[in-house]
Amino acid sequence: MPRKDQVFRAPQQQIVDFTFDDAVAEVFPDMIRRSVPGYETVVPITGLIAARHVPVDGLVCDLGCSLGATTLAVLRQLGEQPVHLLAVDNSQAMLDRAKQLIPDDRVTFRCEDLQHTDVTGANVILMNYVLQFIEPGARTELLTNLCHDMAPDGLLILSEKIRYESDEDQSFYDATHLAYKKANGYSELEISQKRTALENVMIIDSEAEHRRRLARAGFRRVDSWFRCLNWVSYLAYR
Ligand SMILES: C[S@@+](CC[C@H](N)C(=O)[O-])C[C@H]1O[C@@H](n2cnc3c(N)ncnc32)[C@H](O)[C@@H]1O
Repeated sequence: MPRKDQVFRAPQQQIVDFTFDDAVAEVFPDMIRRSVPGYETVVPITGLIAARHVPVDGLVCDLGCSLGATTLAVLRQLGEQPVHLLAVDNSQAMLDRAKQLIPDDRVTFRCEDLQHTDVTGANVILMNYVLQFIEPGARTELLTNLCHDMAPDGLLILSEKIRYESDEDQSFYDATHLAYKKANGYSELEISQKRTALENVMIIDSEAEHRRRLARAGFRRVDSWFRCLNWVSYLAYR
């Protein structure tokens, strides 16, 4: 039974930037389920799409894998099929737990900055809710490298929180997302302390920016396959 997220429950004198440390890793399944609308649909469907796209003995890279929920979803869909899964995260606390949760020798876990991960020949690259943590100025170069290095018919599955261009839409989705978190048991204080902690580390883009960047990076076609409030998932085809 995953532990309940209480990381931001007590009042904090000084709020430091959010990190995926041991305290967060410990409660991560509960935290992400209560914070990201649609997460519990996106993960299994990502597994389904990835499993349908990867050939026998192919390569799937899960960048920013956290506890490996999406890696596990791919494996569940593949059954016994031979495949190589590379699960990457730069949080040792996350990877230590992921390794315990997924004892499958088709998976290689690697603790590194995903900006330096070798994805050569990858049939599928998964980036669920991680691009938003990469420095904005480095995002185009990262996606350009991934597109260049993946297999010629490679598929990128990218999920992100998005920003709206119109103030009216932005305030509607901000307010609704806040209500979503309250409905899931977070207090006003928890929500506001976490928002402050994320302010400098989670920088979100508009849909137009995502599409422009993916096109600039070389992806020939982009489709949004899922949306729940201000959270969107894309398929980007090399
Ligand atoms: C919101 S979580 C991703 C959730 C996960 N993909 C899932 O679907 O369950 C973001 C993860 O990305 C990792 N991360 C952030 N920046 C990274 C980087 N530069 N390199 C590797 N991992 C990174 C964090 O440690 C964290 O575990």
